[in-house]
Amino acid sequence: MIKILSTRFEFDQYRNSLGHDSVGLVPTMGNLHEGHLSLLKQSMLENMVSVITIFVNPKQFGPSEDFDRYPRTLEEDISKISQLAIHSDKEIIVFVPKSIQEIYPENFNSVISIKGITQKLEGRFRPDHFDGVSTVVYRLFVIVAAKNAYFGQKDFQQCAVIKQMVNDLELKINIVIMPIIRNSEGLALSSRNQYLSEDERIEALTLPRTLQALELLILEEGNYDTFVAKTLSENIKWDYLEVLNAETLNLPDPFTKKLVIVGAYRLMSARLLDNRLVHKL
Ligand code: PAJ
Repeated sequence: MIKILSTRFEFDQYRNSLGHDSVGLVPTMGNLHEGHLSLLKQSMLENMVSVITIFVNPKQFGPSEDFDRYPRTLEEDISKISQLAIHSDKEIIVFVPKSIQEIYPENFNSVISIKGITQKLEGRFRPDHFDGVSTVVYRLFVIVAAKNAYFGQKDFQQCAVIKQMVNDLELKINIVIMPIIRNSEGLALSSRNQYLSEDERIEALTLPRTLQALELLILEEGNYDTFVAKTLSENIKWDYLEVLNAETLNLPDPFTKKLVIVGAYRLMSARLLDNRLVHKL
């Protein structure tokens, strides 16, 4: 069963009527693809009710970013969600706030700002982005009061920020991180991929292929610093390419076993993000 709710009032009424706490939350900005749907499918496996939110959050876009042209495809999104509902006896709530005030009431005047890990990687290129993300995710946690919330490893730093927030503020919610869904060529699915021209789609494969090559080098105990330096100096389209401790996002030491390779690559029409987790033996 699928139910579509568009105001806070309707949502609160529905949430109060639920006689149990088996609720999973999947926050999204819509334009759903298999990556988003993988989170929803996992939520449906683990909860009686899944709430998928579709809200293009203005607070996480910089002034020169793509808030206005961000793809809004509600009809298609609902039809994809309905397909999942047909084959399940679980309930899906699609919460699509009809205005920004449903999430941020007129007198709303707070920011959740996580320090430290937000200052590097994406934070260097998108200064207030993570304040916007943590603020909206906090709002959704409060409104939905879910037991579990589902996020994609695709946005590795975003996951780290949310885990830090949950930990620091002692929020009673379990965070589940799901693997990256890629297309057949290895490009991580992203709503922003549709900005890419055909040539750019081919060039975009540089990102996952470089990360894969770097993973092999790490596993073979090769000198990956040289590889990274060479890659960055030969191609100015990289915003960053780094190998970090996957738990702390700090530089690893020789004993760090769980590493993450993170990369951001700039094309004319979109910025692409990707990462790979590497477990050293
Ligand atoms: P959005 O980009 O719509 O992504 C919603 C969720 O889907 C995020 O947790 C993201 O990591 C996950 N996701 C995106 N592409 C994926 C892929 N290829 N494989 C697996 N998961 C993928 O991320 C946001 O929205 C926003 O910042 C949000 C958390 C909703 C706050 O506004």
